[in-house]
Amino acid sequence: MGRTRLVAANWKMYKTVAEAAEFGARLRNELADPAPVEGVVCAPFTTLAAVGPALAGSPYLLGAQNLHWEAQGAFTGEISGPQLADLGCRFVIVGHSERRQYFHETDAGVRLKLQAAYRHGLRPILCIGETGPEREAGRTEAVLLGQLRGALDGLEPGQAALLTVAYEPVWAIGSGVPATAPDAQAAAALIRGHLSASFGREAAGEARIQYGGSVKPDNLAEFVAQPDIDGALVGGASLRADSFAALLRAAAAGS
Ligand code: PGA
Repeated sequence: MGRTRLVAANWKMYKTVAEAAEFGARLRNELADPAPVEGVVCAPFTTLAAVGPALAGSPYLLGAQNLHWEAQGAFTGEISGPQLADLGCRFVIVGHSERRQYFHETDAGVRLKLQAAYRHGLRPILCIGETGPEREAGRTEAVLLGQLRGALDGLEPGQAALLTVAYEPVWAIGSGVPATAPDAQAAAALIRGHLSASFGREAAGEARIQYGGSVKPDNLAEFVAQPDIDGALVGGASLRADSFAALLRAAAAGS
């Protein structure tokens, strides 16, 4: 397989510039001997210029949490792909459930953002996941496949190989109740199967699939032990440098 595991911190709307810079300095101290996984810090827009230099020279990369699909224009309050690349971002989260839920992002909008990310040299982390009621109604597979089709339509196989899909059941985010590892694996296998059918086995074998939703340093190892789970997208447990470092170490377990 040969996929490098990827742990991404999603800081959401937390941290001032000073707090973000302090995290960067602490992370470097924590991991003098870095774990053999990829680490990405998806920081708020206002802190990107502080976190980037703090991570420079470390094995960890900078990411953002959202982008607009246009490169520039009259879009008050929005941030574009070129603006993120300019600050050193290498990754960007697209279609997080909080954006779908609170800011009414649609699959069509998510698709435009995903394509914009590729155009501007940013590697997208596409978030998909079912809500609690959808799961209870037995609609998990249909929801995941619908979100995948909506976001990935028109993608090239070479782009799909660079994709990360984060399976994040909405009911597990911030709840303290993660999915079970076998359930997360079943979703990840469904996702990889869809990628294989759409873009070919080679691209599907290179794309990475993360689990997200109440991931902690002490439960991550069981997720990455699953054959189709290549890391995690982590909110709450990524806010402290010592905890993020512990996540990176846990993700390396058994790799
Ligand atoms: P959580 O958030 O780790 O705090 O559950 C995950 C996410 O929203 O990506």
